Amino acid sequence: MLTIYNLHAKIEGRDILQGVNLVVPPGEIHAIMGPNGSGKSTLAHVLFGHPSYQVTDGTITFNGTDVQKMKPDARARLGMFLAFQRPVEVPGITAAHLLRAASQAKGDTPTSLKEFEDGLDAAFDRLHLDRAFATRSFNEGFSGGERKKMEVLAAVTLAPRLLVLDELDSGLDIDALRTVAEEVKRFVEEDASRSVLLITHYNRILKYLTPDVVHIFQSGVIERSGGAELAEHIEEHGYASA
Ligand SMILES: Nc1ncnc2c1ncn2[C@@H]1O[C@H](COP(=O)(O)OP(=O)(O)OP(=O)(O)O)[C@@H](O)[C@H]1O
Ligand SMILES: [Mg+2]
Repeated sequence: MLTIYNLHAKIEGRDILQGVNLVVPPGEIHAIMGPNGSGKSTLAHVLFGHPSYQVTDGTITFNGTDVQKMKPDARARLGMFLAFQRPVEVPGITAAHLLRAASQAKGDTPTSLKEFEDGLDAAFDRLHLDRAFATRSFNEGFSGGERKKMEVLAAVTLAPRLLVLDELDSGLDIDALRTVAEEVKRFVEEDASRSVLLITHYNRILKYLTPDVVHIFQSGVIERSGGAELAEHIEEHGYASA
């Protein structure tokens, strides 16, 4: 379970997170919605120990472990995974190599190459991505939507316990959105110890991936939490009404 208490963080002298409190229990999908620039991606980066941000107060614990002094790779080994708002290219390394190396580095139970590749093929098929992408340079020359799908594919292949998805819906057409939403749903339903934190500013994806809890994020804090109906309220009335 993820527990964030009174989290404050700044970047380049500017206070962005101003006392975030959040608990995400296993088996649940939580959505964080908020306007542009409110600090949603900042929260995601701080959760994963991005070195540009300075945590000035508060705590982040994951399954009882205080992760704040841990490097991003140590957090990943604990079972945390962040899918980026803007996925990065890794020229010269194929997706298959990158993901197998990441899985080994994470300390996953070793599987044979054949088993690993079969699992990868199945994920490519579920996401309606051409299997040929496995042998191309990771994300190099991929379209925006293909990158987003690769990010989800990487996430489910590495099977974290907490999956944080930052603006998963940006750049996805309606069919791709449904495909990735179904994959994330399958992923969380497959194992009751998994949870998802979905960061978004639109209600769109939440129609396919119903959250257990919706948190409204404004000016660096969670201002309000509620059920899925809160997302619909925002869609109708905007953030100013929250
Ligand atoms: N490197 C930086 N230097 C200065 N300010 C920054 C830096 N990175 C982020 N910020 C500022 O922090 C604030 C929060 O940004 P953040 O990316 O967390 O917003 P967001 O809620 O994810 O927005 P969006 O919905 O547009 O993705 C913004 O005002 C942004 O300009
Ligand atoms: Mg953002």
